[in-house]
Amino acid sequence: MSEFSLAKRVAALPPYLFAEIDRVKNLVRARGVDIISLGIGDPDLPTPDFIIDALNAAARKPENHQYPSYVGLARFRAAVAGWYKRRFDVDLDPENEVVTLIGSKEGIAHFPLAFVDPGELVLICPPNYPVYGVATGFAGGRVKHLPLREENDFLPDLDAVSDAEWEQAKIICVNYPNNPTAAVAPRAFYEKLVAKAKASNTIVLSDAAYTEMYFDPAKKPLSLLEIPGAKDVVIEFHSLSKTYNMTGWRIGMAVGNPSLVKGLGKIKENVDSGAFQAIQEAGIAALEQGEPFARDFRRIYKERRDLAVAGLKKMGIECRAPEATFYLWAKVPKGLTAAAFVTDILEKTGVVLTPGNGFGLPEAGEGYFRIALTVPKDRIEEALSRIAAM
Ligand code: MLT
Repeated sequence: MSEFSLAKRVAALPPYLFAEIDRVKNLVRARGVDIISLGIGDPDLPTPDFIIDALNAAARKPENHQYPSYVGLARFRAAVAGWYKRRFDVDLDPENEVVTLIGSKEGIAHFPLAFVDPGELVLICPPNYPVYGVATGFAGGRVKHLPLREENDFLPDLDAVSDAEWEQAKIICVNYPNNPTAAVAPRAFYEKLVAKAKASNTIVLSDAAYTEMYFDPAKKPLSLLEIPGAKDVVIEFHSLSKTYNMTGWRIGMAVGNPSLVKGLGKIKENVDSGAFQAIQEAGIAALEQGEPFARDFRRIYKERRDLAVAGLKKMGIECRAPEATFYLWAKVPKGLTAAAFVTDILEKTGVVLTPGNGFGLPEAGEGYFRIALTVPKDRIEEALSRIAAM
């Protein structure tokens, strides 16, 4: 059999973080170990029945069996606009300011192809969801890292970018509530970001997938588009995955500046043929009727958060109780690297954690590990007691 060499852009990639974790997890499971996965942020709670019912009904409609619209069903885009208005008081024109995605990962991965020429600069804030950097690399862009540090509440130092670099920067990628640190962006940070981006004509890619996973209704995370004038420079990516337990369904949206939405749509026309319309119909049901369910999920994650934070504290592991996301960003015990710590725990206890150094720039997340609260409370207790007994 001939063996073909990979293109340089692919050969240079590290293994995809969660694919690698899956590989190691499966090796350990094959030894008969009872695995508790606190690794990938994949909700264990089922998709609500009314969404599945909407899919079933829509799947029976012959008109949904043909190619969907490239940019998404008009009714799905209208439902997205309606949801943004109700949730954030943001006005969106469904025709020009919303595009349906096959999950927000797809849109984020394609976006730089539309706007970044080889050699152009993209600002990324590590530790980060790895896709921003990989997608920049696929487009031939170059990255400047703006590390997120605990002493800055995991917000990037926008003043650390010189005026010349702001002028060169084609895109800045931000993600709040943040994966993996669970930080939430205050309004003042967003105002400064929009002002800097507007002054330098830099695109702001806002990954807002976790805005609905908050624990205090008095402190709901913002959409970046709530900031006056943001639509001049912002494209925001959102997803139904985490809010309604729909990771496997692959449905999300990009909204904001019409020329940015249009540019992403142009890439998508050429590489995919749209999202299955029946899933978009189910997505409409989720967006229009899902809030009471999302409220229940928040309560469940809050209980898990409190249990896990208390358990970690008892073991002497430092971890802030997050205000949003279903992640805990905790400190690796002194003297160990993140990789050594999580590997040791997996080998000895069967508990899967994510090492902080796996999120974009390794040194930015070194010294931390991430817990996803994606198993029931009894399994969290079990995981903690196995770790404590090590
Ligand atoms: C994560 O665990 O960081 C995310 O779930 C991965 C993803 O959303 O693709």
